[in-house]
Amino acid sequence: MAEVRLVDIEKRYGSFVAVAKQSLTIENGEFLVLLGPSGCGKTTTMRMIAGLEEITAGDILIAGERVNDKPPKDRDIAMVFQNYGLYPHMTVGQNIEYPLKLRGVNKATRQQQVQDTAAKVELDALLGRRPSELSGGQRQRVALARAIVRTPKIFLMDEPLSNLDAKLRVTMRAELKHLHHELGVTTVYVTHDQMEAMTLASRVAVMREGRIVQLDTPRKIYAEPADLFVAGFIGSPSMNLVNGSVTAGRFRAEGIDVPVDLPDRDSVVLGIRPEELDIATDSSAPVAGKLYALELTGDSTLVTMRMGKTSVCARGPADFEAAINEPCYLTPKAGARFHLFDRNSGQRLDG
Ligand SMILES: Nc1ncnc2c1ncn2[C@@H]1O[C@H](COP(=O)(O)OP(=O)(O)O)[C@@H](O)[C@H]1O
Ligand SMILES: [Mg+2]
Repeated sequence: MAEVRLVDIEKRYGSFVAVAKQSLTIENGEFLVLLGPSGCGKTTTMRMIAGLEEITAGDILIAGERVNDKPPKDRDIAMVFQNYGLYPHMTVGQNIEYPLKLRGVNKATRQQQVQDTAAKVELDALLGRRPSELSGGQRQRVALARAIVRTPKIFLMDEPLSNLDAKLRVTMRAELKHLHHELGVTTVYVTHDQMEAMTLASRVAVMREGRIVQLDTPRKIYAEPADLFVAGFIGSPSMNLVNGSVTAGRFRAEGIDVPVDLPDRDSVVLGIRPEELDIATDSSAPVAGKLYALELTGDSTLVTMRMGKTSVCARGPADFEAAINEPCYLTPKAGARFHLFDRNSGQRLDG
């Protein structure tokens, strides 16, 4: 186990900045998730930690030791690559066994560990196949098994569940979380899936265009997104974001009028989560518009209404029914949180 410190690390490809002078300390035993949209620099950051990508500037320290010039194989890292990185000439069993072989583990132990690990990721029946004879999801599981078959100082996982079907993804998520609980190995995990980040992470680093825009616990990121980008990225359905202005302690926009604790100001964005809105019947409700769509999800109904160009979504009861294009009213639940942002800078305005 080890702490990982990134100190002002930067990666440029020519004049293009893929990762811009970022600092980040991943604590010993932590499960840190790098979350962000495609192209924001997640894989590049991982590859720099692994030693597979030269860093343009800055330092990387693992367990207090500067590893900038240390080759990947000497960093005691196990990595799951986004593109699997399997050995095509080896069988599934041999692929999983390989890291143990490299480290001189005896044959009997190796075989036992390969069996145990393959069972965890539901590959026991496929140990004799070659990667070319597997589906994408199966290959991804081989890559995962090869990483977790031994206990390294650090796990680096780059979208390790992205090619699995939805059901297996949820199972594997719990498996990874349990594994982390058992082994306590420092883990850096990359995903663009906010649900995966929220469920797995001890802390989430939200990235955008080569920068970390917020580093916090999942709870804090959900409750207090630092800017509009994070606010819109975390949560499903995403937070309602409405453009308006504040006068005399009230935020107003078409169809919306609610009290807020902010001095008079134009260009304000009010955010409220769908799960913090209730359906109201009273036309004096603070949010009023026309019903646009109803989507039953099973345990609830997503109620989308429109006021002019703005849409607002609420999570209502599963048995909610109403006529489309008819007036519709919403009211914030008791204790609901309004999030206020500056429309131009995107920064959060309230504490
Ligand atoms: N070898 C490379 N040469 C030039 N640009 C690259 C190279 N590798 C990655 N990039 C660019 O760096 C940015 C970050 O890439 P990456 O770290 O793979 O993003 P992510 O994993 O977050 O989707 C992207 O814009 C990508 O196109
Ligand atoms: Mg990537």
